[in-house]
Amino acid sequence: MDHFILFKGARIHFTDHTVKDTGGNKGRCIVLLHGFLESMAIWDEFAQSLSKRYRVVCIDLPGHGKSENIGFVHTTEMMAECVKEVLHSLMISKCVMVGHSMGGYVTLAFAEKYEHNLRGFALFHSHAAADPEEKKKDRNRAIQVVKRNPVVLINELVPNLFAEGNRKKFILDIEELIRNASSMTKQGIVNCMEGMKDRADRRNILQNARVPVLLMLGKKDPIMNFDSLKPQAELSEQIQLVSLEETGHMGFIESKEESLLAIKRFILRCHLPLKEGEE
Ligand code: MLT
Repeated sequence: MDHFILFKGARIHFTDHTVKDTGGNKGRCIVLLHGFLESMAIWDEFAQSLSKRYRVVCIDLPGHGKSENIGFVHTTEMMAECVKEVLHSLMISKCVMVGHSMGGYVTLAFAEKYEHNLRGFALFHSHAAADPEEKKKDRNRAIQVVKRNPVVLINELVPNLFAEGNRKKFILDIEELIRNASSMTKQGIVNCMEGMKDRADRRNILQNARVPVLLMLGKKDPIMNFDSLKPQAELSEQIQLVSLEETGHMGFIESKEESLLAIKRFILRCHLPLKEGEE
């Protein structure tokens, strides 16, 4: 069911999938956050499956899907506040949060301030480091391209999110992602690139996590190199690494069953009874 809240004067769209489960999972909530140029539509199948047991909330982050832009920069902190407002409107005080890519950056910003509202969080093709200088320069160049013609960036970026060997196989998915991204405004795209460019290094959040963390990475991710991100899984014993073979940046399409299963297992881990002395 579609819902909207007003956040900083902008309409924010989200869905709240009710629980069909009768086996004690009723209060258990999973929040799914999509990545850059996507929308909550990427979660359709995951949400359908998870909502058999859990309450599932999907949010269109500012500038994406049916949610409006806010000002001139969508910082990860502001997007995390937006998520908090949605949860507040639903009176949800605890959840497991799963963020794909940019949604993972938002999840980390949320965890920084509201870890007490999380039973655990998953970074799905995402990570906790800030943009290095070279990447910031790339983003500035990309921002200029978008200001002239966003379609150029969208057409180049979206296929490049898939492992090279998967681009033919998933051509219909790629076309659909391009179509959906093309409905975003220039301002929405630029705002998110500005926000990602200036996001903080949040490796300390991983290091000090007091809740279970899942880091799910694609072995063939063209934009987030597996070997350079893998060490982040060593930052804390709370972190479980799942490596997806033959997968780029789009595990929910390229390794659908495997990544859904990993998320389900992770959710179970987040709801294990606490050991003595744990909060
Ligand atoms: C995403 O997929 O959300 C973004 O490409 C992540 C990024 O650009 O850092």
